[in-house]
Amino acid sequence: MTRHFITIAEVTDPDLERIYQLALDPFDDTTLAGQGVALVFERPSLRTRAASSTAVSELGGFATFFSDDEIGLDTRESAEDVGRTLAQMYAICAARIRHHGVFDRVRVATGDRMSLINLLSDVAHPTQALADVLTLAEHFTDGDVTALRGLRVAYVGDATNVTRSLAVALLRLGVDVNVAAPARYQLTRGGPEDPSNVSGGGALRLTDSAVDAVRAVDAVYTDAWVSMGLEEETAQRRRDLAEFRVTSELMGHADASAVLLHCLPAHRGDEITDEVLDSSASLVWRQVYHRRSAMRGVLRWIKEEK
Ligand code: CP
Ligand code: NVA
Repeated sequence: MTRHFITIAEVTDPDLERIYQLALDPFDDTTLAGQGVALVFERPSLRTRAASSTAVSELGGFATFFSDDEIGLDTRESAEDVGRTLAQMYAICAARIRHHGVFDRVRVATGDRMSLINLLSDVAHPTQALADVLTLAEHFTDGDVTALRGLRVAYVGDATNVTRSLAVALLRLGVDVNVAAPARYQLTRGGPEDPSNVSGGGALRLTDSAVDAVRAVDAVYTDAWVSMGLEEETAQRRRDLAEFRVTSELMGHADASAVLLHCLPAHRGDEITDEVLDSSASLVWRQVYHRRSAMRGVLRWIKEEK
């Protein structure tokens, strides 16, 4: 059966475990030998495009990049016809899209022939979450993701697509997750990547106090206050989220050896200060490094399909 990687929520525990393993295992360059991966980006990207292109190349394949300006998803032609076209030439399409529902539409239109990888949608960023888990495991448990159980992580700021996938991935591993956001920016129930409905043992706690969320935690995570597509709300969001900036003072409420995570790009002075981002607690560059490991894991898992 064709494998897809669209949310963390829809991947089984054994499959997730396998992806983490394949992300870190030695690899050769034959997995994708001679095969192409279509990289479709409806939104800008640095890390995700770099990680995807290099991971495809490491596994012996080639990547073709398509920007929205060129292909115009649902403007130049329908997402269905874009999918049908790509499926004639590629076994895998990795896409960063505005509307998560496009994945289902392409699956239906292509008769599920082409594997899909979500490189960020409005509701999920699952390859980022894999990299975040690998980074935490590298730091805390010598690379063993299953040993993360019992860790405490706080997310502070706007509860975004990144927050949802991160929370689902961590809760599944038995990590406790506190999310601090003003009510209007807090996680909501439902949707395809729903942290409120996860079995795995981790506890999810929502609060409107950043200090309360970070108290004694092992890691603090934040993301942009203004996600792609919300630029018109910039001034309002800066006002509403000002109390949720990750500062040295806020980090002082976390465990003394707590680490700092951020998916990047960082908006220095908004959701995070230079002092914290550039501190010795910051693991952000290891997160970037593991974006490529995570992509390798997903691509290798897809090619193992039964
Ligand atoms: N973290 C992340 O997805 O970065 P890019 O938007 O640069 O790909
Ligand atoms: N929440 C951010 C993540 C960027 C990687 C966005 O969607 O723009």
